Amino acid sequence: MKNTLLLAVVCLLAIGCNNTKEENKMNDTHFIETLQTRVSVRHFTGEAVSAEQTEILLRSAMSAPSAVNKQPWDFIVVNDTMLIRQLGEALPNSRCGNGAGVVIVPCGNLQKTLEGEGQEFWIQDVSAATENLLLTAHAMGLGAVWTALYPNQERIEKAREILHFPEHIIPLCLVPVGVPAEQPQVKDKWKTENIHYNNWAE
Ligand SMILES: Cc1cc2nc3c(=O)[nH]c(=O)nc-3n(C[C@H](O)[C@H](O)[C@H](O)COP(=O)(O)O)c2cc1C
Repeated sequence: MKNTLLLAVVCLLAIGCNNTKEENKMNDTHFIETLQTRVSVRHFTGEAVSAEQTEILLRSAMSAPSAVNKQPWDFIVVNDTMLIRQLGEALPNSRCGNGAGVVIVPCGNLQKTLEGEGQEFWIQDVSAATENLLLTAHAMGLGAVWTALYPNQERIEKAREILHFPEHIIPLCLVPVGVPAEQPQVKDKWKTENIHYNNWAE
């Protein structure tokens, strides 16, 4: 009787483990689909993005890889509607005037980077964080778009006038985030001619 019970428990545990593996597989498929259906969203309903949603976005951004794990980033979260409007007026490319609930500004912090040549890694590091942010927004049913600041000095200075960040902070981009008011078509970017196996000559 004791042995039968023990066997039953072991079987149940094994089934449980298999289920978890299956679920993980399903989740992975879902993740890949989410990743491949992200699009830039530039028009929003004007609804708010909550502090909890914003924290999820920032946690994902900070989960990005970075060279030597330096994490040479800071994020300015703009949730003041007056400031969002000002950004939109000063930087029309940023789409900040289109009803975004929050604008996140991923920045490189030159006081946290590697020394010398490695300093430039901040650009890749903050780009990786930005992509995580965009994908997470999409996974949450929000819309977002990467809009360029760096390397355009004029845009950076306009953003500095409004957001007052110090000289060692370089904003990579402005990312307006909000409830989508448009559903842009997903672009098919799959091009086999962009792939080169083993060496370029083949
Ligand atoms: C470095 C970079 C700079 C960008 N700058 C802008 C921008 O200033 N304004 C804008 O509306 N979109 C900007 N975008 C978004 C691109 O236009 C968009 O990613 C591209 O057209 C592909 O469309 P998709 O994101 O929907 O796949 C930028 C994207 C990147 C990666």
